[in-house]
Amino acid sequence: MEIIKITQISKKFGSFLNPIKALNDISFSINKGEFVGIMGPSGAGKTTLLNVISSAVKPDLGMVTINDQVLTSMKENQLAKFRKQNLGFIFQDFNLLEALTVEENLILPLTFSKMKKAQIEQRLKHVNEVLGLTALNKRKISELSGGQKQLVACGRAIINSPEVLFADEPTGSLDSKSATQLLNYLEKINQQEKTSILMATHDAFTASYCNRIIFIKDGSFFAELNANGNRQDFFEKIINMQKTIGGGEFFNAK
Ligand SMILES: Nc1ncnc2c1ncn2[C@@H]1O[C@H](COP(=O)(O)OP(=O)(O)OP(=O)(O)O)[C@@H](O)[C@H]1O
Ligand SMILES: [Mg+2]
Repeated sequence: MEIIKITQISKKFGSFLNPIKALNDISFSINKGEFVGIMGPSGAGKTTLLNVISSAVKPDLGMVTINDQVLTSMKENQLAKFRKQNLGFIFQDFNLLEALTVEENLILPLTFSKMKKAQIEQRLKHVNEVLGLTALNKRKISELSGGQKQLVACGRAIINSPEVLFADEPTGSLDSKSATQLLNYLEKINQQEKTSILMATHDAFTASYCNRIIFIKDGSFFAELNANGNRQDFFEKIINMQKTIGGGEFFNAK
């Protein structure tokens, strides 16, 4: 069953005289329970694509549908409600509130909802169990390591049991041990909770956890790779595709 469908998405930034084409006529679908990666050189449009699909940024052209709801024709207040109820986000810079505790950060997405205290506590317990965060609950974010913060960001993203989880370079600032740990959690959430995941990444190892990868270059669709069950094999295919696609203009400009 299809959960996300995007049709002919285009997005420009910049001015009329000096436009930057960030996305150019992109279409694809994601099935419920899929773990899909978005890859491509720096500046390819990965973050813009995630932002357009999660409705943080409006496309110039095209349609975004999640769970049969057309996000691109919703009003702002409808969108805000939809995002809160159905979507989760893990940002590269965590976006946690440093002065608050782990627990306070985790339940933040639920505190403005009409959820009862007992239910909030039950969700918190579940997330703590899935991510093994219980021991850190009373610590302030400012007292945590980068890897621990990343886990809290992950917990906060899944506490509302989202249908879709968006992650932008979730392992970008982690060492390989913490990265592997986070990826194992994402895999667990994907398999046990059936959460669909859309993740942008530069990193072939991170991407090798996906079921499928969509490569974009200069804002356009470039290629697609499907996993076949063997992660090492998939990793090598990803590396080869990265060689084929080359670097971003930013890095090529000498
Ligand atoms: N708010 C903005 N205003 C103007 N240009 C923007 C804006 N956001 C993105 N761009 C431009 O759109 C293009 C795509 O940017 P985007 O951030 O989506 O790339 P990316 O693939 O996520 O890159 P990276 O791998 O470096 O994170 C780039 O040329 C970027 O400079
Ligand atoms: Mg980006």
